[in-house]
Amino acid sequence: MTMEKKYIAQWSCPSNIALVKYWGKLPNQIPMNPSLSLTLKNSVTTTTVSAQNLNAPFELNYLFHGEHNAAFSKRIQSVLETWQEHFPFLKNGQWRIESENSFPHSAGIASSASAMGALALSLCSIEHEILGTLNTSESFQRKASYLARLASGSAARSIYPGIVSWGTSELVENSSDEYATPLSIDVHPSVLHLNDAILIVDDQPKKVSSSAGHQLMNNHPYRNNRIEQANNNHKSIIECLTSGDFQQFSTIVENEAMSIHSLMMSSTPWYSLLHANTFEIINRIQYFRAQNNIPVCFTLDAGPNVHVIYPPNVKQQVESFIQTELKPFFKKYQPDEMGNGPEQLK
Ligand code: PMV
Repeated sequence: MTMEKKYIAQWSCPSNIALVKYWGKLPNQIPMNPSLSLTLKNSVTTTTVSAQNLNAPFELNYLFHGEHNAAFSKRIQSVLETWQEHFPFLKNGQWRIESENSFPHSAGIASSASAMGALALSLCSIEHEILGTLNTSESFQRKASYLARLASGSAARSIYPGIVSWGTSELVENSSDEYATPLSIDVHPSVLHLNDAILIVDDQPKKVSSSAGHQLMNNHPYRNNRIEQANNNHKSIIECLTSGDFQQFSTIVENEAMSIHSLMMSSTPWYSLLHANTFEIINRIQYFRAQNNIPVCFTLDAGPNVHVIYPPNVKQQVESFIQTELKPFFKKYQPDEMGNGPEQLK
C-alpha cells in the first residue's frame, strides 16, 4: 500500500421501491422477512470518495451538494465506524466524501438506499485499488450489498439492477439475509420493464423514522402473521412476474403497501404516516383501473407518497390520468422507471 497516494472513487446508485416490503428486523440488520424491489433509474445519489495519507489519524470532510451538513456528516461518520471491521484501511486517513441526489432534497423520496449504496460501492472500489481484492463483479457487488445493508437495510437491494430480492427464500438462487440477489427467473415480457410515477403528497421529514417502525415490530401482536404473509407474498409475486399476471401482481403489491401501514397503525404506540390525499389518490387509482381495465397499481413507502406502478404500454393513459385526475392531490411529481443499476463514474 502506498501511503502518499490519493485514492478516488465515484459511483452513482439508484434508489429502489419495494413491492414486497422489508418491515421488522432482527439484530445486525437481518430482515424478519424476504423482500423484493424494483431498482429505479432517475432517483440516484452520486458519491465521490477520496482518501489520502492513510497513516494519518482518521479525519472526515463530508459535503452534501457542495455544502457542509452536520446531520448527514454525523450519520456517515457512524456508518464508516460500523464498516471499519470490513475495511481495515478505514480506521485512518484523510477522507473526503461528496454526495448529491438527482432528486430534490426532502422531496419525500427515500434517499438512504441510494446514498448508502453509492457509499458502499465507492468504498469497495477503494478497497480494490488498495488491496487488489474483489476481483469479480460477483464478489464486488456482494460485498457492497452486504455493507449497504448494515447502513440501511433496503440499500442492500439498490446494488443490483432490475428486480431484486433480499432475504432467505427457497425460490431465489443464492438468496441470503445478509445481502441482496438479482432475480434470475425469466420475467414475463409484459412486466419486464415497469414504470414508477412518484407522486409526492408531502415532502416534510417523516414524524416516525423507519428504524423506529422496524423496532415496533419486535413486540407487535401480528409479528408472526406478518412474517408468514410477507413470505407468501414474496413467493406469489415471483409467480406473477413469471406468468405476467398483472391483476394478481396488483393485489399483492397493494396488499403489501396497506399491510405495512396497518402494522404502523396497530403498533404500540400507534402512528400513521398517511394523509387524506394519499387515500384520495389510491381510491382514484382503484376506480380508474376498474373502469378502464388498465394494468396500473400503487405502492407506498414508509410515508404518504404514492408510487404508481404500470407497464410501459399504458404510459400515455396513465400519465394523462395522473395529470387530469390526481394532480390536485400531490405537490410534486418525479417520473421514474426500472433502471440498469449503479454506475461507476470514476
Ligand atoms: O431500509 P430502511 O431501514 O429504511 O427500511 C425501509 C423500509 C421500507 O422502505 C418501508 C420497505 C422496504 O423494503 O424498502
